Amino acid sequence: MEVKNPYMYNGETMTPKIGSLNVGTKSVYIESYGCAMNFSDSEIVLSILNDINYKNTNDMFNADLILINTCSIREKAELTVRKRLEKFNKVKTKNKNIKIGVLGCMAERLKHKLLEEEKIVDLVVGPDAYKDLPNLLEEVSDGHTAVNVLLSKDETYSNINPVRLNPNGVSAFVSITRGCDNMCTFCVVPFTRGRERSRDPQSIINELIDLRKKNYKEVTLLGQNVDSYLWYGGGLKKDFSKASEIQKASSINFAKLLEMCALAVPEMRIRFSTSNPQDMSLDVIKKVAKYKNICNYIHLPVQSGSDKILKLMNRQHTIKDYLKLIDNINNEIPNCGISHDMIVGFPNETESDHEKTLKLMDKVKYSFGYMFKYSERPGTLAAKKFDDNVDEIAKSRRLSEIISLQQKHSLFRNKQYMNNIVEVLIEKESKKSKSKWAGRNQQNTTVVFPKENYKIGDFVNVRINNYTSATLIGEAVNYSKK
Ligand code: 5AD
Ligand code: SF4
Repeated sequence: MEVKNPYMYNGETMTPKIGSLNVGTKSVYIESYGCAMNFSDSEIVLSILNDINYKNTNDMFNADLILINTCSIREKAELTVRKRLEKFNKVKTKNKNIKIGVLGCMAERLKHKLLEEEKIVDLVVGPDAYKDLPNLLEEVSDGHTAVNVLLSKDETYSNINPVRLNPNGVSAFVSITRGCDNMCTFCVVPFTRGRERSRDPQSIINELIDLRKKNYKEVTLLGQNVDSYLWYGGGLKKDFSKASEIQKASSINFAKLLEMCALAVPEMRIRFSTSNPQDMSLDVIKKVAKYKNICNYIHLPVQSGSDKILKLMNRQHTIKDYLKLIDNINNEIPNCGISHDMIVGFPNETESDHEKTLKLMDKVKYSFGYMFKYSERPGTLAAKKFDDNVDEIAKSRRLSEIISLQQKHSLFRNKQYMNNIVEVLIEKESKKSKSKWAGRNQQNTTVVFPKENYKIGDFVNVRINNYTSATLIGEAVNYSKK
């Protein structure tokens, strides 16, 4: 079992969301799976389709087009998509004219093979090819199939104003980088999302200002590796060394970008995800500490507590480096929420390696974490080089062990909030009680409290009087204007 958090960006843990906007003449039904980047991409796709008069619908049976934005990170994520395609097949038997398109990482990974394997699919479009959708839809309109899985050096969709799908109108994703150059051996992302490139900072700032005007209260800056953000006028991160001296001198890194964002929308909360240990600079940590509107929360995947395994994973950091980073965060940012991603059962992981993971967790005592069994992905370096040699029973046991340890740590972390006042941004009704609101504090922990006269989008100071490992429970103490 994985620890679930509907806000999380990764794997199959995110709840699928369905669009709900209505403009235009044809209709598109879209489902998104996987990371926040996919959810953000679906908003870009809808914007592109709106321009050619597609309206968004929640009714798949009466749609002209069904799109599924897919995830390949683990086998389970792909199986979920295959199941959904079976469901769409039933829709197609009732409505023969409907077109079915697969977007995202599975489209990129499987390419034309997807058309052979899933006969109902008409359209296969990779993450860098969404601007080609109008042409591709033309192609499929007369019964052909269409595929565009070209990866790009510079596509960042910076000139597209996304159609927002998050129904709460409070928090939005803003993508700032695309792709990943890290090549962790277990990970399919560098193959499905291509090389790292950064988005024009001015277009990011414009999007933030636009969101603020629309009354959004929080943004999450998104990328596979946000700390690696580098703008020098466009182009791939890996080509920065070839840039001119002027370009280099005027380049903007993630710390600078964070500062620009914090200053551009001081009344909005700013979050970012995901950080990679080797790229997170002290400068970034200091900016988080400096600006009140940058949330005191860092998601810092480590993947394993064993240096041997980190090396096999081609992670560019050791446990010593990682712990130094954690120290820096704790020294610079008091009360910083820190979360992790952890993989158990990577090839050649022994009991002693696993013990090291438990030991690391004990040292850091993360606020929460996202934990996975290793899932071999075809085409990755790990799949080519190593045997998937940790048996399923050991994988499952190790996963339960880290999950229970994490629950203990989350409980410990949440206990520290007892009788403290935290600022909560109200996002929705509590799942468990109609009389309570749910939101998050700066540290990204869910807080629930009685609704009184507050409303979604309010920042409220809440005194914590109870807690579980997943939730803080409290009562509003006064109204904090923002
Ligand atoms: N198997 C299991 N977990 C994986 N992740 C990425 N690839 C795999 C894989 N092959 C996890 C990592 C990453 C998160 C997004 O998903 O922990 O940080
Ligand atoms: Fe995958 Fe590693 Fe890049 Fe994250 S940093 S997307 S785990 S290759």
